[in-house]
Amino acid sequence: MNHYLNINDLDNLQQTVQEAIELKKQPLKFEELGKGKTICLLFFNNSLRTRLSTQKAAQNLGMNPIVMNFGAEGWQLEYEDGIVMNQNKSEHVKEAAKVIAQYCDIVAIRAFASLTDKEKDLAEVVLNNFKKYAGIPVVNMESATGHPMQALADAITMEEYKVKHKPKVVLSWAPHPKALPHAVANSFIEMMQLQDADFVITHPEGYELDPNITKNSVIEYDQKKALENADFVYVKNWSSFKEYGEVMINNPEWMLTGDKMKLTNNAKFMHCLPVRRNVIVTDEVIDSENSIVIEQANNRTYSAQTVLKKILEDL
Ligand code: CP
Repeated sequence: MNHYLNINDLDNLQQTVQEAIELKKQPLKFEELGKGKTICLLFFNNSLRTRLSTQKAAQNLGMNPIVMNFGAEGWQLEYEDGIVMNQNKSEHVKEAAKVIAQYCDIVAIRAFASLTDKEKDLAEVVLNNFKKYAGIPVVNMESATGHPMQALADAITMEEYKVKHKPKVVLSWAPHPKALPHAVANSFIEMMQLQDADFVITHPEGYELDPNITKNSVIEYDQKKALENADFVYVKNWSSFKEYGEVMINNPEWMLTGDKMKLTNNAKFMHCLPVRRNVIVTDEVIDSENSIVIEQANNRTYSAQTVLKKILEDL
């Protein structure tokens, strides 16, 4: 594999999930594979899980990870061609990407959506410019439109916990005080479109995601109806896609509660974390034995390790 920018960069999701489950049993089995190789992890935004799990994954493969909080500590980058750089941006991505590529064999990048400039966000300006100029493999650690490392971890987790071949999986919008990006929901949907599952998306009217992502996925505006007989409930907030980046309504009725979980088939509760308790989900649900959020976060290591292993094998 050359780059991992989208879940569809994987040749075969089901096989990759099985590889990750095997890797989880023997995480140090390929510790010679990355020997002498370096990965730069560039964070333009905050992180807990992605930063630590990707670093651990690289170390498990014998790699040397270099982590940089680019957003806080790097020069502000310019991405436009031919621009007169007489404002606040100090370095062009053309130099920055080429320089970084001299220090490492793989570059992994976290760069969230602006939620103000839809065109630029959809163009994945940061990720695609690094891909264009670095000339080394690029890994998406959550970009403007996707979080495929999370989606692979979610697929691994569902495979571990599913009790029937074709589970019902519900992705439910939930309220949040701030405008959040669409990346996690987008990648979860793209991942579910590769699964043999009964998949339903539920959200209030006005929160439709990018139709180029949702495609033919079932959308049910009645959350309670959507939750009936669900085997997995994945809860996530996102801001409006149509009224780009806006919080249209923030109805607390959409929070996931214990009463709503009673409608399900004893469903497992999933969330990518971090999560706002008693806003997105009640304490009762997230603290219940049906909550698998901690194992989901654990699987971020094996998701990242499987992706890095595939890239190392093709270097
Ligand atoms: N789920 C996730 O990506 O967590 P962090 O933002 O803490 O990395």
